[in-house]
Amino acid sequence: MARIFGYRAALRGAALSIAAVLASGGAIAAQDPSPTLKQLLFPQSAVTPVKGTVQELGSRLFNDQTLSLNSNQACESCHNASYARHPVTGKRITVAKGFVDNDNIENGTAVSDGSVPGLFGSLNAPMVVYAAFSPAFHWDEEEGLYIGGQFWNGRASNLAEQAAQPFLNPVEMAMPSKWAVVTRLKQKPRYINDFKKFFGIDLRKIASNELAPASAAAPPLVDVAYAAMTDAIASFEKLRMFTKFNSKFDFVLAGYTSFTPLEAEGEQIFNGKAMCNACHISDPDVAPDGSLMPPMFTDFTYDNIGVPRNVNIPGDPAPNLGLGGRADVAAADPNGDEIGKHKVMTLRNIAVTAPYAHNGAFRTLEQITHFYNTRDVLGHVADVNDPGFGVTGWPDPEVLPNVNHDELGDLGLTPHEEAAVVAFMRTLTDDYDQWGKDPKVPKGMLSPFATTPFPAFP
Ligand code: HEC
Ligand code: HEC
Repeated sequence: MARIFGYRAALRGAALSIAAVLASGGAIAAQDPSPTLKQLLFPQSAVTPVKGTVQELGSRLFNDQTLSLNSNQACESCHNASYARHPVTGKRITVAKGFVDNDNIENGTAVSDGSVPGLFGSLNAPMVVYAAFSPAFHWDEEEGLYIGGQFWNGRASNLAEQAAQPFLNPVEMAMPSKWAVVTRLKQKPRYINDFKKFFGIDLRKIASNELAPASAAAPPLVDVAYAAMTDAIASFEKLRMFTKFNSKFDFVLAGYTSFTPLEAEGEQIFNGKAMCNACHISDPDVAPDGSLMPPMFTDFTYDNIGVPRNVNIPGDPAPNLGLGGRADVAAADPNGDEIGKHKVMTLRNIAVTAPYAHNGAFRTLEQITHFYNTRDVLGHVADVNDPGFGVTGWPDPEVLPNVNHDELGDLGLTPHEEAAVVAFMRTLTDDYDQWGKDPKVPKGMLSPFATTPFPAFP
């Protein structure tokens, strides 16, 4: 089933082939965006937070461990703004910052520790990078599909709604209530100043109650302050440090440099024989003003690709029903058509965010690519720990209903073609100017699309 990129309807623009962009002579200069596009744009233009802005407040909140029960965990603890390093040698093992939990990359685990020792989540932490581009969660009447949202099952509509959850999640930051979180905010004079300055909220007017249970009747200002906090975090997550568009792919798209023969072959297969682009959209789009929108490598829809259960997750949690497991979705889905579906995640930076899929069942890009290629033809093994996992067979899907057999499972790719697809995915890693050592893209060069104040695309 071909899907339509979430923004496309709003943009009225025709899709532009990569060849056409190259033929146009490289970077397309953006002009003043149209009113339609403006609604989709983020007003922020900075790469990293500028001192004295609400994004800087958001950054401090994102990094503040005192906002967790045991003052030992921040958003950043599971979405690390640093390189993953080899546990023994300490050498960098990723070429860019993936904003995932580096512990998982370094130790081969799938899920993250919580603030409370011994408690773990049951899903793999996705990157925060490019999350800002997911449209608000909605049912698309025309497509007959759910689109957008945050989390693997889209249960938060947008970034601010998302940011409200980890503080109160018992297996994450584990605070007992919003009131307790706001009480922690009050303990820092800079938060008191900033909340006054940016939101006109006087935190000192809220009575402290560090142990307030969720059931306690909180002063009305608590909800207001809590929402302001999540707004600040969301505006931080829209900065260009999370949405860089400076991967090798982007520089090739803009005509600065070129793929190796293997990468070029991988791109062809990704868009052709392997049909990856049916869900991981790889065509750029054109905004109404003619400016270029680089592709997001997701259509923000949901699918069950048949990922096996990851029996290594502590506590071996029950199968994750994804989108169809949400009470609100289930209520509108009497036939269970959404059961087992998870969000199509972006493939930008995918090479630096192992392991893969909602439960981290796949350790490498090679393995998940082999899975797409051979899921239905390889044979059967008991579980992900079987020595034959991915070699002689694959386990049953974690959730059987709605497994997609139309677009994946038996792609007929040769080992060389699989390697080419992986090589192509490795071009999607940001900061190519740093890791690429490519004379055509000098170090320190920002995104090739950054010709006007950010962004020329939503
Ligand atoms: C204990 C680890 C942990 C902490 C702490 C944590 N996260 Fe996450 N984050 C995760 C996991 C796991 C998921 C996926 C959970 C799900 O889909 O249900 C996730 C999902 C997300 C997503 C959704 C990305 C997408 O593409 O759908 C965003 C955005 C995010 N986190 C931001 C934050 C922010 C902001 C904070 C702090 C307020 C935070 N996280 C704290 C582990 C963590
Ligand atoms: C029918 C839609 C669809 C097609 C076609 C598809 N994918 Fe996916 N992809 C998904 C969904 C949905 C997920 C998340 C699945 C999950 O975690 O349960 C995903 C996840 C991934 C991930 C892991 C993402 C992460 O953050 O962990 C990689 C890598 C990936 N796909 C690569 C590919 C490649 C390579 C191809 C082509 C061979 C492909 N996909 C084809 C829908 C699709």
